[in-house]
Amino acid sequence: MSSQSAIGVFDSGLGGLSAVKEFLNVLPFEKIVYFGDTGRVPYGTRSREIINKYAFQDARFLQTHNVKMIVAACGTVSSVAGEALREKLSVPYTGVVNPTAYTAVRKTKNGKIGVIGTAATVGSHSYKLRLQKLNPGVKVFEQACPLFVSLVENGIIHRDDQITRLVVRRYMAELKDAGVDTVILGCTHFPLLREAISDYMGEGVTLVDSGYETANYAAKVLREQNLLTDDETVKTPSFFVSDTPEGFESVAGLFLGRDMEHTVTQIDIEQY
Ligand code: DGL
Repeated sequence: MSSQSAIGVFDSGLGGLSAVKEFLNVLPFEKIVYFGDTGRVPYGTRSREIINKYAFQDARFLQTHNVKMIVAACGTVSSVAGEALREKLSVPYTGVVNPTAYTAVRKTKNGKIGVIGTAATVGSHSYKLRLQKLNPGVKVFEQACPLFVSLVENGIIHRDDQITRLVVRRYMAELKDAGVDTVILGCTHFPLLREAISDYMGEGVTLVDSGYETANYAAKVLREQNLLTDDETVKTPSFFVSDTPEGFESVAGLFLGRDMEHTVTQIDIEQY
């Protein structure tokens, strides 16, 4: 492993691409190796044991690519397995919870912060605990939004789609009534619903995107450890999935704004 090695990024599916998009902007000279566990998504409805097992298999696969850092671009993994990964991995690790909580605490003006995520993320209270550690005065309102993951995985994300609007209203109503001025999109799938969520919550509510904050945090860690590459050519990311690549390629292509056909490789994650 050296400064020329890649950064390994993983998620339970394609939600982590919201983070990859930010990594490509923030660190264009870094090589990204992405793994999306499309064969086993969702993680957010599973037990701690299973999420831990999957998280370590995903990290072990990325380590076969000799990565210099591992990023869990998944709110669920970061919340449930983050501490164990940080302890056990031999390379720097970050999840999405800490960088995102840090920004939310700085952004809120009225001290009322909403957190939306999967059932596992909300059940772990990871964001709430972190936010209240950073500022014991903030009030945190949590809401699990499991159907958001299905909407995203199926591409039902348009702000004018009746189903999208209905589900957004159903999940976000209590946070709106509570008067939050900041909402953490605590699952990496959710930035794809950003417009629909913002339409419902209104302009005065700041949405904090975990991908953007995490990419900036990873850049800081690599800089501090002298691990940023000095090869200033723009790199093309590599993508791996655990189910057939076709569906992933079309949604990922739309999302990253590039033709992804025949660029994604299927692997057997159970081997790791
Ligand atoms: N991307 C995952 C997260 O950030 C959500 C999808 C899942 O449930 O696996 O929590």
